[in-house]
Amino acid sequence: MLPSVVFSTILLTSVVWAQIPDQFTSGFNNNTISLVVTYGANKVTDGEKLSLNVVKSSPTLALGDSSSLNTNSRYIVIMIDPDAPSRANPTAANFLHWVKTDLRIRSSTATNITADNATAAFSYLSPAPVQGSGPHRYTFLLFDQPRRDGFVLQGLPANDLPASRVGFNVSAWMVVNGLAPAKAGTYFLAEFEG
Ligand SMILES: *[C@@H]1O[C@H](CO)[C@@H](O)[C@H](O)[C@H]1NC(C)=O
Ligand SMILES: *[C@@H]1O[C@H](CO)[C@@H](O)[C@H](O)[C@H]1NC(C)=O
Ligand SMILES: *[C@@H]1O[C@H](CO)[C@@H](O)[C@H](O)[C@H]1NC(C)=O
Ligand SMILES: *[C@@H]1O[C@H](CO)[C@@H](O)[C@H](O)[C@H]1NC(C)=O
Repeated sequence: MLPSVVFSTILLTSVVWAQIPDQFTSGFNNNTISLVVTYGANKVTDGEKLSLNVVKSSPTLALGDSSSLNTNSRYIVIMIDPDAPSRANPTAANFLHWVKTDLRIRSSTATNITADNATAAFSYLSPAPVQGSGPHRYTFLLFDQPRRDGFVLQGLPANDLPASRVGFNVSAWMVVNGLAPAKAGTYFLAEFEG
């Protein structure tokens, strides 16, 4: 049995270690806007471990208690894996799992964002981390869409086959689309389950 002091040190280390990479969080303002990702009955809390069968289908998206909601705005959300094929050796980073554009706040709920009339999207591919690759940070980022109407997202992979989703450069994609740094985000951890 581990002495409890050792055990809590391990816990603390893993909490510090498991975070959204800094390069993506520079524009976050966690006090005014938060992205809420919900898989079925599972509302994702930052860094929680989810089982692969919970994340098989795409989640719903909402904005948390946000003081800067604008029903006229449109938003973009991407889901990436910066730990592909593993966090120790992320040679396939970022793996692009999902893109939604033209997200807007539903007037009936004020905070639930949806893309019923999306003009562009990149299909959801559920996490499938390879055996022995450890926990992956499946990361969601929320961007302001530069234009409300007629916005066509550029710089997506040519098709949504798994092999085309590797090496997605978020910085280059932001430049091509004129995007400001992500405003909010969240992530969960998942790993190979056998
Ligand atoms: C905001 O939240 C993200 C995700 O939990 C975290 O990585 C980041 O450090 C937070 N930023 C601030 C300024 O608290
Ligand atoms: C958002 O709205 C959709 C469609 O009505 C619903 O299925 C989903 O549960 C809602 N999500 C949240 C987080 O309220
Ligand atoms: C959906 O988008 C199309 C193309 O942008 C637009 O013409 C149409 O009015 C939209 N429909 C709704 C219900 O918002
Ligand atoms: C990603 O794109 C940025 C901006 O275009 C560039 O500076 C950087 O070198 C690229 N990173 C990789 C790994 O290609």
